[in-house]
Amino acid sequence: MQIGEVRRKRLALLPSPLQELPALSRELGGPRLFVKRDDLTGLALGGNKLRKLEYALAEAEEFGATCVITSGAVQSNHCRLTAAACAVVGLPCHLVLAGDEPAAPSGNLFLDEILDVASLRFVPRGPDQKEPPERPGPVGMAVEALQQELEHAGERPYVIPNGCRALHGALGYAPCVQELVWQLHEINLSPNWIVSACGTTSTQGGLILGSELYCGGEVRVAGISVSRAGARLVPRICEGLGEAYAFLGRAEPEHEILIYDAYVGPGYGLPTSEMAEAVRLTARLEGLILDPVYTGKAMAGLIDLARQGMWGRDEIVVFLHTGGIPALFVPEKIDDLRSAR
Ligand SMILES: Cc1ncc(COP(=O)(O)O)c(C=O)c1O
Repeated sequence: MQIGEVRRKRLALLPSPLQELPALSRELGGPRLFVKRDDLTGLALGGNKLRKLEYALAEAEEFGATCVITSGAVQSNHCRLTAAACAVVGLPCHLVLAGDEPAAPSGNLFLDEILDVASLRFVPRGPDQKEPPERPGPVGMAVEALQQELEHAGERPYVIPNGCRALHGALGYAPCVQELVWQLHEINLSPNWIVSACGTTSTQGGLILGSELYCGGEVRVAGISVSRAGARLVPRICEGLGEAYAFLGRAEPEHEILIYDAYVGPGYGLPTSEMAEAVRLTARLEGLILDPVYTGKAMAGLIDLARQGMWGRDEIVVFLHTGGIPALFVPEKIDDLRSAR
């Protein structure tokens, strides 16, 4: 099966723009840098989740869902974009958020309110405070309880896991590689590397799938972890790729899975001085705004790897801007960024 044959609900403005970063390349002494602007995918301020949600929402419709439940951190970009996608398709959206309810909503949480979600539940984060919530901790249990309540009330809820199913990430992100290859071919270039933040892993899985399907694996994908150790992420990516190949009915090749986990710092969402430097440097040199949780840490990784000489001067490295900007306007994040210098 071809990815183009799979049902999807159009949500994102695609193709997202591709833009060169000449001043940052000069500052680092190479490589030649581009940014794929998936922060500009349109709906509700954009972000990487929209490419995945196109498949999740199509599946929800096929399932005959009367509402959607999803979960994430209090400042979850995934929850904000799921709420927006549900608004577009006319499905009530219920959110289970891990963390304390703040006195005043800001950033993504404020947008959830504007997007008029059907319900918001705050539950304590799991025992590992440094990681984004995952089933089957307190969040998973709250999701299951909510699902049962809604079913008893006669609803047919469709549950989207935090960050979307690996299969939907793979289907959403493989075509992104094709898109950026075409964009670069128009200026007689081809990509050597893609660098992206890695959280729940399905974006990276999709990029690897795209490189394998459309470029014979020649575009190398570097994931910069924002939360977990690489040893925990690699099996998840392998599992997701296995699922995608089985779904497409294709033979699975050997994969190259590269995760750089030295840029997490004290934990998920917690600031590092390298992240603060990356956010300020790209803003100062390119007018490009990054977020403190995902793209700031991913760019910190790219900058460090470039300074270590990982790439040749003329290699083409594409940074995937996955969005997340609303978190930049959360008061604690502003404090974090101003103090982490
Ligand atoms: C802005 C942003 N960038 C990157 C990621 C990581 O993507 P993934 O969860 O597919 O690894 C996320 C989500 O977790 C995100 O919200």
